[in-house]
Amino acid sequence: MRILSGIQPSGIIHIGNYFGMIKKMIESQDDGELFAFIASYHALTSVKDSEFLKRNTFEAAVNFLALGMDPQKSTFWVQSDVPEVLELYWILSNHTPMGLLERAHSYKDKTARGLPTNHGLFSYPVLMAADILLFDSNIVPVGKDQIQHVEMTRDIAQSFNNHYGEILVIPEAKVDNEVATVPGTDGAKMSKSYGNTIDMFGAPKVIKKQVMGIVTDSTDLNEPKEWENCNIYAISKLFMSNDELLDLQKRYATPGEGYGHFKLTLLDKINSYFEPYGQKREELLNNPEMVKDILSDGAKKARVIASEKMRVIKDAVGLSY
Ligand code: ADP
Ligand code: TRP
Repeated sequence: MRILSGIQPSGIIHIGNYFGMIKKMIESQDDGELFAFIASYHALTSVKDSEFLKRNTFEAAVNFLALGMDPQKSTFWVQSDVPEVLELYWILSNHTPMGLLERAHSYKDKTARGLPTNHGLFSYPVLMAADILLFDSNIVPVGKDQIQHVEMTRDIAQSFNNHYGEILVIPEAKVDNEVATVPGTDGAKMSKSYGNTIDMFGAPKVIKKQVMGIVTDSTDLNEPKEWENCNIYAISKLFMSNDELLDLQKRYATPGEGYGHFKLTLLDKINSYFEPYGQKREELLNNPEMVKDILSDGAKKARVIASEKMRVIKDAVGLSY
């Protein structure tokens, strides 16, 4: 079974990204053959600063490797290092009705918010279809916002197959309903656009500031406190065992400690949880050539599959003679 996952290169990742997506993706390396890439071409639809894109692509690679992406087990590359995907994108464009793209939620949302639109943004789902179909992917783990894109991929593939024969593998989206939304420091969904994140690899001072900034009620130090609706407790759940949580509940119920104390306990937990990954990340950041070699090997592996698939597809559509 082939699992494929694309990740937009965002340099700073927060614990919502980790528990919501990255952790599952790393674990899926044991469920099948994982193909994972950094979606650098897709990022061009929103990032127009070249230095920013370069840095974020590199840092995204470093982050994923530090968090357990294993290039021995999986194929891990940068999308733009496998340009075959753009050839397939063009071929699939000719099997993508305008109406299908016009119905895309992500495009409609962006136009509704008055953001400038362009063809890249409009045809984003066709490039995503090419990513998926180029590698005969069976399963595509995605968040809810991406389900429609995988459905469009299926439609495009079916239309292609109806015309040229059973050439493309029809993929399935896998949505993990168990993955709860990680709350931010203000209790709303943690998101970099809301400024309520706890960053994973931030400087210790930054992380401390974020944790100490978790919003709570103003119950006095000498009053018992409620853990049920407390943001500190909700985030602590990600890092603590059941016994530790029971202990924390007792501390909430016992007067004498304030929210500041619970925040410091959480801060310790977060620091020790990510410390080994942080060390690995530093090693990788200090060895950029090693990271580039890993990505280049990944792209080579991916290109072997991509070029063979393109040979079959080009032949099927008549681009061989
Ligand atoms: P952000 O909302 O910070 O911009 P992205 O949209 O870049 O995050 O999300 C990248 C991945 O992380 C997606 O797969 C998304 O589902 C997941 N993710 C982001 N925020 C959360 C959250 N608060 N809880 C769970 N998963 C999240
Ligand atoms: N569009 C996806 C996102 O924003 C990223 C992505 C690009 C992707 N190509 C993909 C995800 C192929 C899965 C499969 O999260």
